[in-house]
Amino acid sequence: MATAIHSHPRLSRRLLLRPFKRRDVASLHEAIDVSIADLQPWLPWVSGYDRGSAQRFVRESVAAWAEHRAYDFAIRPLDQPERHLGNVSIWHTSVQNDIGEIGYWIRSDEVGRGYGREATTMAVQIGFEELHLHKVQLRIAVGNIRSERIAERLGFTNEGTLRDEVKVDGRWLDHTVWSLLEAEWWPQRDRHRAEGTIA
Ligand SMILES: CC(C)(COP(=O)(O)OP(=O)(O)OC[C@H]1O[C@@H](n2cnc3c(N)ncnc32)[C@H](O)[C@@H]1OP(=O)(O)O)[C@@H](O)C(=O)NCCC(=O)NCCS
Repeated sequence: MATAIHSHPRLSRRLLLRPFKRRDVASLHEAIDVSIADLQPWLPWVSGYDRGSAQRFVRESVAAWAEHRAYDFAIRPLDQPERHLGNVSIWHTSVQNDIGEIGYWIRSDEVGRGYGREATTMAVQIGFEELHLHKVQLRIAVGNIRSERIAERLGFTNEGTLRDEVKVDGRWLDHTVWSLLEAEWWPQRDRHRAEGTIA
């Protein structure tokens, strides 16, 4: 049985992470709509995304949280909580071995401001300190340099390449698997707190 985590917002210096609510459909759809060109090369679900897709995502996200299957967080600026910046999600890939995975995206007109790294750091903290994982993984398409930088800056180790792992727009992408162990998280925690990327 996967661990349950609470649904209160998590705060950093600039961000608020919270579970999705039914009323988020419009702001989620708008954020994806302005970001299609940047999301489409890397994420398989983006093609043909419309308001109905956003509606289904929110419905499924609420159900997945309640059933402890996955935890999707809406990323919002603390000073503008109605603006959708992107998503970060964490879920178990092995309950037996305490392994989880994180996925994320940031809207195009807000990239390059450190929000991706900040939200991922918050999700890593949730993984180790709330879900009590032993290992957190990221899967990053080969060539997705920005995402690789997030993994590197958080001290993840590249464990290798999975060939033709995901089909995006009819194109097969190789994925690299990156991991961080619990023992590697605690020594860096104070640095993230000092930088304000976690509370
Ligand atoms: C990958 C992604 C989440 C990064 O979000 P972000 O908010 O820009 O992340 P950060 O600001 O923390 O930047 C991460 C790195 O990318 C670099 N970067 C960001 N925007 C950039 C730009 N426009 N040009 C060049 N480099 C850029 C940053 O400099 C940073 O590297 P650094 O730490 O060495 O400075 C975002 O670009 C995105 O959503 N991409 C599409 C979806 C995706 O790839 N998701 C991840 C799947 S694994």
